[in-house]
Amino acid sequence: MAMKGVVLAGGTGSRLFPLTKITNKHLLPVYDKPMIYYPIQTLVDAGIEDILIVTGGRNAGDFLRLLANGKEFGLTHLDYTYQEGEGGIAEALGLAHHFGAGHRLCVILGDNIIEGSIREAVEDFRKQPSGAKILLKEVEDAERFGVAEMADGKILGIEEKPKKPKSNLAVTGIYMYDETVFDKVQQLKRSDRGELEITDVNNAYIAEGSMTFAQLEGWWTDAGTFESLLRANNLVAETQERKGE
Ligand code: DAU
Repeated sequence: MAMKGVVLAGGTGSRLFPLTKITNKHLLPVYDKPMIYYPIQTLVDAGIEDILIVTGGRNAGDFLRLLANGKEFGLTHLDYTYQEGEGGIAEALGLAHHFGAGHRLCVILGDNIIEGSIREAVEDFRKQPSGAKILLKEVEDAERFGVAEMADGKILGIEEKPKKPKSNLAVTGIYMYDETVFDKVQQLKRSDRGELEITDVNNAYIAEGSMTFAQLEGWWTDAGTFESLLRANNLVAETQERKGE
């Protein structure tokens, strides 16, 4: 069965207040496009065309007006669903059950922007018999992210925003899952910050020995803080200038 794509664009974007007082974080500009264009394009470039957008907040209707049926990405249809509140990335993913049940999924966070392509990783995951695959990236500020603990080229576990990171390898917001992901989401308990954590889903795959990983080529950034939003704008602008776009 064809792999499906899910873009997670819920949450309230409180770290970007007051930019997010009126509009949704994922509709804010990143250089010359709204933020959400980038993760959608990442999926489409990897050959994934059956895509669900999970959104939330007060401006959900704006997504439909902006993206409609995805014509700008060469799509003829987009699916949408709504997350009430901000119960976490894994909660948002759980809302994709009706769309993704029985399929493999490539999930991408709506504020994750990359320079390159994930096509090769997606192709590798298609060949993987079962399990999950994540993409890692070396960073200088690992304590801001999910961080992989590695030994002998293997991934032992992931810690969410550790004070003392065990490596400089951040877990990017691009995740590939087999159809068991919804069972794993269902078994989660809320974390200390009251969220269903995607890191717990990933650790469940690691515990059953079915998680693979690759290192992401090219730059990667999130855009959920003032610093990273500015960084995202600059990286996109520089890259487009270099490519003469
Ligand atoms: O960017 C990668 C990082 O994203 C990972 O390294 C972390 O392991 C992962 O937990 C996440 O960390 P953040 O704290 O940066 O996630 P944040 O709360 O900023 O949410 C990122 C996106 O996920 C957001 O743009 C929309 C989506 N989201 C988030 C929440 C909390 C939802 O759709 N619903 C939610 O309830």
